[in-house]
Parts: sequence; C-alpha cells; structure tokens
Amino acid sequence: MIRLTVNGKVHDIDAAPDTALLYVLRNDLELNGPKYGCGLGECGTCTVLIDGVAARSCVIPIDGCVGRDIVTLEGLGSRERPDPVQAAFIQEQAAQCGYCLNGMIMSTKALLLRSPRPAEAEVLEALRYNLCRCGAHIEIMRAAMRAAGHLAEAQD
Ligand code: FES
Repeated sequence: MIRLTVNGKVHDIDAAPDTALLYVLRNDLELNGPKYGCGLGECGTCTVLIDGVAARSCVIPIDGCVGRDIVTLEGLGSRERPDPVQAAFIQEQAAQCGYCLNGMIMSTKALLLRSPRPAEAEVLEALRYNLCRCGAHIEIMRAAMRAAGHLAEAQD
C-alpha cells in the first residue's frame, strides 16, 4: 500500500511503487482532470501540483509522492466556485479541443503561487512547454494574463 494525499484527502493505493502517478489519479481515484498525452513528460497535459510546484504526473512514480501534497485540477475549485485561474480560462473561452487545458491551468496556477503578479515573459516561460495543437495560444495567454491580474476590468 502506498499512502497518497490528493486534494486534501488521504488514499491508500494498492499499486506497484513505480506506477506513474497519472495512472493512479485517473484509474484508481477517478480524477480525470490530468490527461494522458505523450506519457514522456513532454506535452504537459498531465500536470498536477506537488507541494505547490507543477509536476508531470505521467513520469512521476507514486513512491516519490508519499508525504507530499498533490493537487489536481479537481482540487483547485468547483463548478460553483472555480479557482480564479479556472474562472479566467472560462471567461476568455480559452479552449478549442480542451485537451491541453489541464496543463495550461495547473502550470498557470503553479506560476501564480510562486510569483503572484508575473510579467508576460514569465507567463510565456511558464507555459512554454505545455503543448496546444489547436492553436488556441492567444486565448490561453489572455486567460493566463487575466488570472495574473493584467487585464483591466473594462475588458470584461
Ligand atoms: Fe505527461 Fe505528456 S502526458 S507530459
């Protein structure tokens, strides 16, 4: 058994210690916010927060997560009370197929946790390795900049 704390709840997981965190989140805990994309740590769609830092759950074994605070997209907010980052992405309608959005939102959240009002260059850097194949980059950047408090209320 491996004990994991996910979105504030403790779970005892019956899985091999080298199982990728993404599989446990999706298959055992039914948390489907993080997506499977490349499985190689390159696309970012599986991103979660581990101790507040963006992490690629497809390449992190669960035994490396014991005693750490794991947060998934589901742990940020709810439909009724979305996290400000989720609200910004909704407001900007920053999705086409939506597959990359988990990673975009979680990477934006991680950035804002370490830098509450980042410059545009920091936002670009934070999202640089999250891949979007639809071409929704302009809306995604607007959403991230909105979450970072850079868009005036007049633009709402
Ligand atoms: Fe994890 Fe692509 S699925 S980085």
